[in-house]
Amino acid sequence: MRLETERLILRRFDQPGDRDAFAAICADPVVMDWLGGTLTRDEADARVDRVEASWEANGHGRFLVERKSDGAFLGWNGIMRAFETLPIAGVPEMGWRLVREAWGQGYATEAAAAVFADGFGRLGLPEIWAFTAPSNLRSQAVMTRLGMVRRPELDFEYPDQPVDGPLRQSVVFIATA
Ligand SMILES: CC(C)(COP(=O)(O)OP(=O)(O)OC[C@H]1O[C@@H](n2cnc3c(N)ncnc32)[C@H](O)[C@@H]1OP(=O)(O)O)[C@@H](O)C(=O)NCCC(=O)NCCS
Repeated sequence: MRLETERLILRRFDQPGDRDAFAAICADPVVMDWLGGTLTRDEADARVDRVEASWEANGHGRFLVERKSDGAFLGWNGIMRAFETLPIAGVPEMGWRLVREAWGQGYATEAAAAVFADGFGRLGLPEIWAFTAPSNLRSQAVMTRLGMVRRPELDFEYPDQPVDGPLRQSVVFIATA
């Protein structure tokens, strides 16, 4: 599976070096600040395994995002089913994560728009969710730019996060077909 936008290629994690690049982004404390902290190499590999298993089971997953002009690894973007441990387990959820050098250039929004078109088109999804911590304003700005609708009545708590911690609460946005 592969999508193309004006500046980006979205593809599976199937090339030598893909896992190295993903492990590097997951070791960056700034990128991982709202995602529960940095990951070890094994943990990052396990995330890619989960993504690839989702492609096989559901026909969707996170795409690796690559810049067309120079082939640079920029991060990932795509739809996964929400973790089983969450109150909203199983909903189709957008995720995006970019290397820091790629922030502020519209890449996350450009990639996500292509993923939405694929999700509502090829996959026939009626809605796509996105959620993040209240303090993750950059991620919420992507949701707003995409035209997603804030749905406070669907906000939930992460059961494995400390009650007063910054990652306990979620803010939910929904896009509909
Ligand atoms: C969330 C994340 C992907 C957002 O990245 P981002 O670069 O802010 O978002 P976009 O790629 O859509 O870029 C938008 C910015 O690029 C600017 N931009 C520059 N050129 C642009 C272009 N050609 N087209 C569109 N926007 C452009 C926009 O004006 C906007 O700038 P602003 O942030 O100053 O308002 C990124 O911050 C990240 O990886 N964070 C860590 C991981 C994370 O939190 N993931 C989400 C968990 S839910």
